Amino acid sequence: MVILEVKNIKKSFGKTEVLKDISFSLEKGEVLAIIGSSGSGKTTLLRCLNFLENHDSGDIIVNGKLLSDGGEGDLKEEKLRENRLHFGLVFQQFNLFPQYTVLQNITLAPTLLKKGSAEEIEKNALKLIDKVDLNEKRDFYPHELSGGQQQRVAIARALALDPEILCFDEPTSALDPELTGEVLKVIRELKGSDNTMIIVTHEMNFAKNVADKIIFMADGIIEEMGTPEEIFNNPKSEKLKVFIEKAFSEK
Ligand SMILES: Nc1ncnc2c1ncn2[C@@H]1O[C@H](COP(=O)(O)OP(=O)(O)O)[C@@H](O)[C@H]1O
Ligand SMILES: [Mg+2]
Repeated sequence: MVILEVKNIKKSFGKTEVLKDISFSLEKGEVLAIIGSSGSGKTTLLRCLNFLENHDSGDIIVNGKLLSDGGEGDLKEEKLRENRLHFGLVFQQFNLFPQYTVLQNITLAPTLLKKGSAEEIEKNALKLIDKVDLNEKRDFYPHELSGGQQQRVAIARALALDPEILCFDEPTSALDPELTGEVLKVIRELKGSDNTMIIVTHEMNFAKNVADKIIFMADGIIEEMGTPEEIFNNPKSEKLKVFIEKAFSEK
């Protein structure tokens, strides 16, 4: 079943065309990895999909429902807020609320959105804390946690709103190398429980092992799209060949 369809998305900042004509679709439970050099438009694409940025034109369709065609009517705050609920986003820099504990970070949004009774919300949050393996840290504040632990809280927080599509923007790039494994492990486990995910990453081995489908972006277009096997073992475009060679030689 197709859960997400993206058709001909375009986005410019002033005269700079950052997304030129992006189209792809995603099946429920599929994991899509987006790779590409810095500045190729990966973050902008995720921000447009999450309605944090208004795209100029093109359709975003979730479960067969057109959420936005980039038209003027799509700028209304109420509609944006509603559209955002289909997606969860985990940022590079965690972005936890510093004044709240782990548990409060996770219960805040569901509480504001009245997603259930206080008990139900807390019960669900505790289940998510267990899922990301932070049972001992539930009453800790973000500054008392390592980067890897903070990122796992951010993942639990995103899951608390039960989004249809969970997006990650380079979830491990702000972490020390020894902490990336624990975050990637949690993401890998989410795949097992049938979550639909879009992961922007520079962890090539992770993309290769976890993604069902990979998009290689270059200069605002999808330069190449395929299975991990096609992208890594049989790249067609020159740009992708160069990118892969460089990525693996840096390791
Ligand atoms: N808010 C903005 N205003 C102007 N230019 C931007 C803005 N956000 C991103 N850009 C530009 O868009 C291009 C793509 O950026 P980005 O989506 O962050 O790429 P990536 O995530 O692949 O590194 C870059 O040239 C960047 O400078
Ligand atoms: Mg980026």
